[in-house]
Amino acid sequence: MTNEDISKLADNFLINTYGSRKICFVKGEGSYLWDADGKKYLDLFSGIAVCVLGHTHPAVTEAIINQAKKLLHISNLYNIEPQVMLAKNLSELCFAKKWFFCNSGAEANEAGIKIARRYWHTKGTPKPQIITAENSFHGRTLATITATAQPKYHQGFEPLVPGFSYVPYNDISALEKAITPETGAILLEPIQGEGGVRMPSGNYLKEVRQLCNEKNVLLIFDEVQAGMGRTGYLFAHQAYNIEPDIITLAKGLANGVPIGAMGCTEEVAQGFSPGMHASTFGGNPLSTATALAVIRELTKPGFLDEVKTKGELLISNLVNLASKHPKIKEVRGKGLMVGVEFEEPVAPIINKLMDKGIICGSAGPNVLRFLPPLIIEKEEITYAVEVLDRTLGELGW
Ligand SMILES: Cc1ncc(COP(=O)(O)O)c(C=O)c1O
Repeated sequence: MTNEDISKLADNFLINTYGSRKICFVKGEGSYLWDADGKKYLDLFSGIAVCVLGHTHPAVTEAIINQAKKLLHISNLYNIEPQVMLAKNLSELCFAKKWFFCNSGAEANEAGIKIARRYWHTKGTPKPQIITAENSFHGRTLATITATAQPKYHQGFEPLVPGFSYVPYNDISALEKAITPETGAILLEPIQGEGGVRMPSGNYLKEVRQLCNEKNVLLIFDEVQAGMGRTGYLFAHQAYNIEPDIITLAKGLANGVPIGAMGCTEEVAQGFSPGMHASTFGGNPLSTATALAVIRELTKPGFLDEVKTKGELLISNLVNLASKHPKIKEVRGKGLMVGVEFEEPVAPIINKLMDKGIICGSAGPNVLRFLPPLIIEKEEITYAVEVLDRTLGELGW
């Protein structure tokens, strides 16, 4: 089938949550994708930060095939060997010593919110209120759209889940003022992704940690987008030298096999006991065996250093463009999570780049967002920025 055939079917048979799309990718390899008409593209978006090892990475494919030959599903009524190994592996790599697995980022955040509330409840001091930051994005379930402090995601879905309040990101005094005796947790993306690739300023995250300690509030980091090597560190909080009490992961964890994870300290883990939370598919053999293979690749010596180097290259090339193209307001990012803010909506750039065989995305209307596979080559980065340079020239930007 062609792109057009597939688009017609999509328009006829899918509930229209994603708008009308014109292109269908049918094959991928490394940082490249091919559409149904045979056109080749350089992928700088990785399926929204998912394919950290690019497309059809041999280690990922092998893990999937080997596991599919052994056992796909068994349920959490029984132990699942790769799930247990993944929890052990993750616990050796960060502060979180206990893990719960689910199937998506929203579910991971749901689990984080639930365990935070339940933790205080089991302590005998219920503190159900959760504070989140404006422009955040935490998912599309009812609790996670409520946590997502962007009104456009709330409209028409009211009543929302009670117990959430919002503060401006990067404003420590607003956060301090918002904390009440009812506040049980602060939920933040260490780098805001969807809301515009917004970086934590100065010592903001350190100050948030300190405030949480002083006020006896749990800190939840949503690393669904910024985790799994994206910043050049395995987990984003490691780039800022602070530890939350709860972390949520998804996207890159299994390179495209659906998975979510919520990890926490031994102390917070006491919040859940048998029967309090569950997922039929969560932590299934296929997704967890694949995640083990992803982590093996990301933690190979030198891999994350290369991500840092390639991120610096991408950012410095983009900063050079900013001196030539007046509509660029700011270039920001860490590792291979990069945003370029323009004076105007970036949709025309994305469309023109697509015509030229380059895939990137947006983060809000005016920010061009780059989330390339972490295995991208330096030459591919240079090439992509050259094409962007030409495209901005053509647009007179
Ligand atoms: C920071 C963050 N949290 C949560 C989510 C939701 O993840 P999912 O779409 O897997 O539910 C996303 C998705 O973009 C995200 O970027």
